[in-house]
Parts: sequence; C-alpha cells; structure tokens
Amino acid sequence: MATENGLRQAHDVVVIGSGAAGLTAALALAETRSVLVLAKGTLTGGSTAWAQGGIAAVLDTGDTFEDHIRDTMVAGAGLNDLATVEFVIERAPQSIDRLCELGVPFNRDADSLHLTREGGHSHRRIVHVDDATGWAVQEALLKAAEANPNITLLPGRTCIDLITDRHREHFSAAGRVWGVYALNEETGRVERHVARATVLASGGAGRVYQFSTAPRGATGDGIAMAWRAGARVSNMEMMQFHPTCLYNLDVKNFLITEAVRGEGGHLLHPETGRRFMVDYDPERMELAPRDVVARAIDDQIKRFGLDYVHLNISHQPADFVREHFPTIYDKLMGLGIDMTKQPIPVVPAQHYTCGGVVVGLDARTDVPGLWAAGECTESGLHGANRLASNSLLECFVFGEAAAQDILSRWDTLEAPPAVLPWDESRVTDSDEEVVIKQNWTEIRRFMWNYVGIVRTTKRLERAAHRIALLKREVEEYYGAFRVTTDLIELRNLLQSAELIVTSALHRKESRGLHYTMDYPDMAAEAKDTVLVP
Ligand code: FAD
Ligand code: SIN
Repeated sequence: MATENGLRQAHDVVVIGSGAAGLTAALALAETRSVLVLAKGTLTGGSTAWAQGGIAAVLDTGDTFEDHIRDTMVAGAGLNDLATVEFVIERAPQSIDRLCELGVPFNRDADSLHLTREGGHSHRRIVHVDDATGWAVQEALLKAAEANPNITLLPGRTCIDLITDRHREHFSAAGRVWGVYALNEETGRVERHVARATVLASGGAGRVYQFSTAPRGATGDGIAMAWRAGARVSNMEMMQFHPTCLYNLDVKNFLITEAVRGEGGHLLHPETGRRFMVDYDPERMELAPRDVVARAIDDQIKRFGLDYVHLNISHQPADFVREHFPTIYDKLMGLGIDMTKQPIPVVPAQHYTCGGVVVGLDARTDVPGLWAAGECTESGLHGANRLASNSLLECFVFGEAAAQDILSRWDTLEAPPAVLPWDESRVTDSDEEVVIKQNWTEIRRFMWNYVGIVRTTKRLERAAHRIALLKREVEEYYGAFRVTTDLIELRNLLQSAELIVTSALHRKESRGLHYTMDYPDMAAEAKDTVLVP
C-alpha cells in the first residue's frame, strides 16, 4: 500500500485515535465509506481501556433526563452549554443499547443492568463491567472494527501534524485539512495519509502533570495539532484532578474508582481516623463532585503535612467488596493491601482534560475538513468540571455525531489534492536524547507545582516563563533533528502546557476546577475561555 515517497493510498476518511471516540466514529462511517484508523503505539493504548467506573445513563425508574442534566450542570459550575448537555444525556440510553448489541457484558441484576453510584450523581445511573468497564468497551469496539472490511487499523503511527492547504503542491491559504503526516514508529519514515475528511479522537493531555491517572500517550497531541492548524481551543484551564489515586512509591498512576465511595467508602485522616469531608461538604460528604473532594484532600495533605489520606471500605462485607471491585482488589493484594480489612492510601492526581478543541453538536471544528470527538474536544458538556462517567458517554455521542455529519455532507466534500511530502531535510539523529527526557520531566514537575489544584497568579506566571524558555529550546531541537515519538510528544506537551497556563491566567475568578487564591470568588456570569490561534 505504501509508495516510494511515503504517500499512502487515500481512504475516504482518516480517524486519528482508536479509543471510544475514534472507533465509534469509524464503525458508523464504515457503513458506507472506507476508513483508516491511526493510533500511536498499540490500538489499546488510550484512556478508554483504563476506564474503571462506567458510563452514566438514565435507565433507573425514578431517574430522569432532567436530573442527569441538573447534576451535570451543578458539577460543571454553570459553564456547561445546556444544548450540548441535553444532546448528550438524551442520547445516552441509545448509546448503551448499541454497546450491548456489540456484546459489552455489562453487569446485570436479573433482567436489568446493574447501576452503581458515583460522586455528584443524585441517582444510581452508572452501567459498568465490574471495575474494568473501559477494557470491556475497548475490546468490543476493536473486535467490531477488526471484523469490518471497510476499516483499516494502523497502530504504530504517531501523527505529527495535520495536512492543510499549506502543504498542497499548489499552495493555497484556505486552511482546509486533508489528512495527516504520521511517523511510522517501526521504519522511522513519515507517511502522508490523505482523505476527504479527518476525525481527531486523540484523547487528553493529562501527562502534562507529574502525577496523572492517564496513560503515557496522553500528551495532548491532537489539541496541539488542531491549534497549529488554526482551530480554536477552549477552557484548557479546567484540568480535572481525581481525588483518589493510589499512593504507592512504585505504582504511580493506579486509579481507585469513585465507585468505591459510591458503594460506601469513607475518606479518613490517616492518623486520627476522622471523616474529614464533614468540614468541607457536610451534606454530600464523600459523594460531593470531584473538584470539591480533591481540594479537600489537598487541603488535608498540606495542612497536616501528610503524604496521603485513607480511603476505607473495610466496613462493608468482604464478599461485597471483592465482587464489586475485583481488579482493584487483586492489584492491591499484589501490593500487600487487603482492602476488605485495611484502608487504602490515596492522593489526588490529574485525571481528565475538560477543555480542548472547540466543536459544535455536529462535531465540526473551526477548520474545514476536520471533525473532532472525545477527550480532545470542548463540546460544552463538562463545563468547569466533568461529572463522573460522563466522558465515555461523550465519546459515543460525538463519535456518532461526527460520522453522521460527514456522511450527510459527503457529496459536497472534495477529493484531496496532491500534497507535499514531509520535509526530510532533517535527517540527523539527535545524540542528546537526554535533553528530551530532561524537558519532559521539567514540564511535568512545574505544571504539578505551579498549575495544580490550587493556583496563584504568581505561580502561573512562573510556569509561563519556564514554558517560553523551553519552547525556544524545543523548537530549535525540533527543527534540527529527525522526529521521534518522544520529540513529537514533548513539543505537544509543551504546547498543551502553554494553552493551559494562558487560559488559567485569563480566568479572573475561581470556578469548578480552576481555583486561584488571587480571585477566590466565582464571577456572576459564566464565560468560556476561548483561545484563537
Ligand atoms: P482515548 O481513549 O484516550 O484514545 C486516544 C487515542 O488517540 C489512542 O488510540 C491514542 O493512541 C491515539 N493518539 C493520541 N495521540 C496520537 C498521535 N499523535 N498519533 C496517533 N494516535 C494518537 N470516563 C468515564 O466516562 N468513565 C470512567 O469510568 C472513566 N474512568 C477512567 C479511568 C482512568 C484511569 C482514566 C485515565 C480515565 C477514565 N475516564 C473515565 C475517562 C475516559 O476513559 C476518557 O476520557 C475516554 O476514554 C477518552 O476516550 P477518547 O476516545 O477520547 O481517547
Ligand atoms: C472512576 O471510576 O472513578 C472514574 C470515573 C470517571 O472518570 O468518570
């Protein structure tokens, strides 16, 4: 399929990412079009495979769309777009039906799906597969995609930059996207994948922080690529910190699902055993939204000089705990912690990127030819803080919306033009890989220290200063050497960090996940932070 100069035959549509959003879009598109799915590393390397808790949907008698909408808007501190919230929540039961048809083995209670509970939800409404929902969803989607003759899956491709009109053989300034340049991780060559339509489903930017539950590849590549191609990016200051990541010196990013608190887990001061949430949110206690619980834990850790707090569910029957949380139970037993008898040491860690590339209900970005879905986007669903288990749901609804919009306007989409090959003049291999490693570590550390759960203008300015210095160094390095996945990711990590800090400096209030000591109050009007390239 590859030609001499790295050009690959065009498919109708290129999808960047093989997680929940990318594969949902691909499966819907493949009913009539040929689809190429590109993924960095393996096909299961995104956050989807790691999801634990489940997927939120109104399925219980007594629960209503209105309640799910209200819970989403309360968690999002009013920054959500109501039309988007309604659009997604009303489509949730349909999305769950489709996953059941694909064979996702959701837990059941007799004839109905078992629903668990998580923070910020006023009802039991989370469908799940034990405590490893994401893996089951990823497997089912992948199996369907592998069986579909209209879908080609290409792992081991690190996308570098979107192909736009600037890359045409006959230059045009129009800015339309025609596919993507991607590094073949095995050969080291850069390929051109051209298409009439491109769907970005590349996940979040969590790895910009030193402590994160997100997988290694969550380096904001898609957000950075879309920004460089001219798309607006919004609310990047809204980085979500999950309250309960395992504290362990060897295992750095293992999540303890919110469902542990949903099923009765208590947060305790590790020395006094006191249930400290009573001081922060006496009504909702451990089931307050994530921003509230994460800030409370952060406050306890800082105030008492602790390394961690305790999450305890050992008061529930041992069988109940083992049955509900088999993955977590096994993992902790391997580390010498029996959660049926002992509390679990936990700390907050970055977990989810609420901001991203601006999309409408049709999943279109600002840039013609480019659609986007999932964690790389800002659709208006999450506002200033994502409600638990609304994220996979967004992937299914917007993956489908992207596909339907592309199919509905197919006859108006032009065939791709001839595009220039990747500039291969940078053929020297770097002899200083240590520079990349050092810069990765430095960004992640100062983002954690200066742009974390509690912010100040001074700390944000310090981070901005460091980003400017590193950006010059990395651009110089990027311009001189052959690209590698590590270098591509470093450049994108830095771009994401800049977007987060610039957005945080713009917001002169505290709202949802953005809490700054210089502006501790919430402004009367909720406004998105929109950055224009
Ligand atoms: P991902 O699943 O992250 O997939 C991104 C894809 O893009 C991958 O295939 C990756 O290889 C590819 N990619 C990235 N960069 C490039 C590049 N440069 N070139 C080529 N390909 C690229 N949400 C819930 O709703 N419920 C939960 O219970 C839940 N639990 C979670 C638990 C954990 C530990 C984590 C980290 C997240 C959890 N979330 C949960 C959030 C949710 O899993 C993610 O938001 C969601 O899976 C994102 O899906 P996605 O398709 O947008 O991206
Ligand atoms: C969890 O299981 O706590 C994560 C759920 C989510 O991120 O929505």
